[in-house]
Amino acid sequence: MSISIKTPEEIEKMRIAGRLAGEVLDYIAPFVQPGVTTNELDKLCHDYMVDMQGCIPAPLNYAPGGHTPYPKSICTSINHQVCHGVPSEKKLKSGDIVNLDITTIKDGFHGDTSRMYYVGEPSIQAKRLCEKTYEAMWHGIRQVRAGAHLGDIGHAIQTFAEGLGYSVVREFCGHGIGRKFHEEPQVLHYGKAGTGVKLEAGMIFTIEPMINAGKKDIKQLGDGWSIVTKDHSLSAQWEHTILVTDTGYEVLTLADDESLEHMPLLP
Ligand code: MF3
Ligand code: CO
Ligand code: CO
Repeated sequence: MSISIKTPEEIEKMRIAGRLAGEVLDYIAPFVQPGVTTNELDKLCHDYMVDMQGCIPAPLNYAPGGHTPYPKSICTSINHQVCHGVPSEKKLKSGDIVNLDITTIKDGFHGDTSRMYYVGEPSIQAKRLCEKTYEAMWHGIRQVRAGAHLGDIGHAIQTFAEGLGYSVVREFCGHGIGRKFHEEPQVLHYGKAGTGVKLEAGMIFTIEPMINAGKKDIKQLGDGWSIVTKDHSLSAQWEHTILVTDTGYEVLTLADDESLEHMPLLP
């Protein structure tokens, strides 16, 4: 297996799928309020994707090797949940931070993106972690261009995050994406500059760092999906789907309003 180089026609379809995924994150923002359940957010996003966008929510029944099929249409990871939080009847409360991760399938191609949302007023520490994780993602994105190495991305993210006293989750990484949800390569969010695969124009992959306020260690909950920090420290994540170009990168999952009401657009 190798890393696919997308054709111009495939890239155009990835632009459409990516933009639609970003638009779901815009759509759901005003609903992320104290008292809403993550099941309600899941249903709203599901219906928007299916009825308004004509998309398939990729997580629903997704069952990569060894996993039970994922039961919902989005991932909702609250506070110390790192990723793959499964929506439930639990109500969000003021002060929570929550990552909503959306993956659309349109015309056979995937778009994958996630953001952090504040529920009511966040603590200073929670807000800082969300903002710095957003910056960490952009430090990674800015490394992308034909001729750069995958290790450049991980190195940029790791040095920035660890320089602030945060830690980088190791067990989950960015991924190639296209007709399949998860393709080669694995995009680590830590590593050494100048190492790893050399990037070529037409590659498409996600960058989605998970940054913990405490230690990097994680564990999986009994639902077989939700990942939490072992030390219960807060964790944040942002994700974009990125096309490698000759001169740099194109972010395929930008929508109109990446700067959320409470979240300044930093770069
Ligand atoms: N969207 C996640 C990612 O960024 C994967 C979620 S898999 C699911 O790779 F089954 F939990 F939805
Ligand atoms: Co992803
Ligand atoms: Co995702």
